[in-house]
Amino acid sequence: MDERPIGIFDTGVGGLTVVSEVMKALPGERIIYFGDTARVPYGSKSKETITKFSLQLVNFLISRGVKAIIVACNTISSNSFGELSRVVKIPMTEVVRPGVAACSAATRNKVIGVIGTEATVRSGLYEKYLKESVPGATVYSKACPLFVPLVEEGWTRNSVARETAGIYLGELLELGIDSLLLGCTHYPVMIDCIKEVVGDVTVVNPAEAVARGMKTLLRENGLESGLERTEDHTFYVSDNTPKFDGTCEAVLGRKFGAVKVDIEREE
Ligand code: DGL
Repeated sequence: MDERPIGIFDTGVGGLTVVSEVMKALPGERIIYFGDTARVPYGSKSKETITKFSLQLVNFLISRGVKAIIVACNTISSNSFGELSRVVKIPMTEVVRPGVAACSAATRNKVIGVIGTEATVRSGLYEKYLKESVPGATVYSKACPLFVPLVEEGWTRNSVARETAGIYLGELLELGIDSLLLGCTHYPVMIDCIKEVVGDVTVVNPAEAVARGMKTLLRENGLESGLERTEDHTFYVSDNTPKFDGTCEAVLGRKFGAVKVDIEREE
C-alpha cells in the first residue's frame, strides 16, 4: 500500500481530460497535476525545447514526492518520452501507445485519421505505431494548431470552434476515414464540437485507456494506495490560475483552486 500521489502533467489544461478518467478508474489515488500554462503551446516548439521544459515538469513532480507519473500530453510523449525515461526512475506512462491500441480496435475500414499538434504530427510516431498495429492501414495525420488556444480560452462549442473544426476535419472526412484519433489531450475538451463535425466517424479519446494502463502499472509495482476514495488532489500551474480553475471545474465538475508556481526557479 502506498498513499503517495500520482503525478500527471501537461502543457496546460489538456491533461485534465486524463485526470478525469484517472479519478474514475482510480478513485483512491491522490493526484498532483502540473499544467504549464505560462508556456503553452508546446506543439509549435522544437523537440529540444519540448524536452527541456518537460524535464523541468517531471523534476517538479518528483520533488513533490509522486510515486508514478503520467505524461498526459501527446506532444511531450511523442517527442521527449525517451529522454524523460532516462532520468525518471519511477514508473511512468505516456499517451501515444494507449491511443494507438484504442484506435486499432475501433477502425473497420483501416482508414484512420489522427489529429494532434504540429510537433506530434512531425514526430511521425502515431503513423508508425498505427501501421505496425493495423497491417494495411492508411493513416492520415493532420495538425490542428488552433484547437489548443481555443480550448485554453474555453471556446469549445461556439461558432468559431465549429468553423475551425469544420475546416481542419473536412479534409480528413473527404479521405474516407472511419475513425479519428484525438492525438492531443486538449482535444477531448471540445469533443462535442468535433463529434458534431465528423458525424458517424468514431472519435477515439485515449484518456480512458491511459487511466487503465496506470491502474495496471500501479498493481504490477505494488504501488496501489489502498484507499477507497480520496479528494486530496493538488493542481499546480505556471500562470493564469483563474482561467485554469474555470476549465478545471468544467472538465472535472468541481473547483480545486490551482497553485501558481514559477517553474523556471524550481530547479
Ligand atoms: N495537450 C498537449 C498534447 O497532448 C498539447 C498542447 C500544446 O501544444 O502545448 O499534445
